[in-house]
Amino acid sequence: MQLFLDTTDTAILKDLAATGLVDGVTTNPTLIAKSGRPMLEVIAEICSLVEGPVSAEVAAMDVAGMLAEGRKLAAVAHNVVVKAPLTREGLIATAEFAREGIQVNVTLCFTAAQALLAAKAGAAYISPFIGRLDDYGADGMGLISEIRAIYDNYDFDTEILAASIRNPAHVTAAALAGADCATIPPNVFQDLFKHPLTEKGLEQFMSDWAKTGQSIV
Ligand code: E4P
Repeated sequence: MQLFLDTTDTAILKDLAATGLVDGVTTNPTLIAKSGRPMLEVIAEICSLVEGPVSAEVAAMDVAGMLAEGRKLAAVAHNVVVKAPLTREGLIATAEFAREGIQVNVTLCFTAAQALLAAKAGAAYISPFIGRLDDYGADGMGLISEIRAIYDNYDFDTEILAASIRNPAHVTAAALAGADCATIPPNVFQDLFKHPLTEKGLEQFMSDWAKTGQSIV
């Protein structure tokens, strides 16, 4: 499973990328606004920090505008993936980008039928928003399972990118449901390393090791 970081904070990205566990990055207009930086500049910097796909979202609502913005974003670096919303216009633009060889991450997916349309349009990634569905009282993880079954039934290559992840349990459940990738906020990514029993066990081991007076090197 590929793990992406959902952030525009390049200091945090550098720190986590040093683990070798960050396969890509996703951004959205809210995260760009949060960065307080020009979008093209921050996307270029992120692309220089990670080899894998970096999603950069269009802001236009019409097809011509999405195509103009997406082409500009795709020209920033070889690993830019254009992010387009799951609207009728977004899927028309997705099909055109696919014809041009530009990868698209179709975002704001909340039903399996929407995911089916995105795959038919040629999306490289579909982003079902797990946390926002759960907040809405629906079954976010059930959506991942439905999309997995549909994509497998018809051999679609579109990768399922579990998004709007709120906690480590979401990552586990998405992996079990067959998501190809998950995009994770930095605080949740940090939490993936942790368990109280790991900390407690390590403390005990280190205390016992100190008593031996040994050194391995
Ligand atoms: C990533 O592509 C999405 O924009 C992100 O996961 C949304 O997460 P949120 O629901 O926490 O804003």
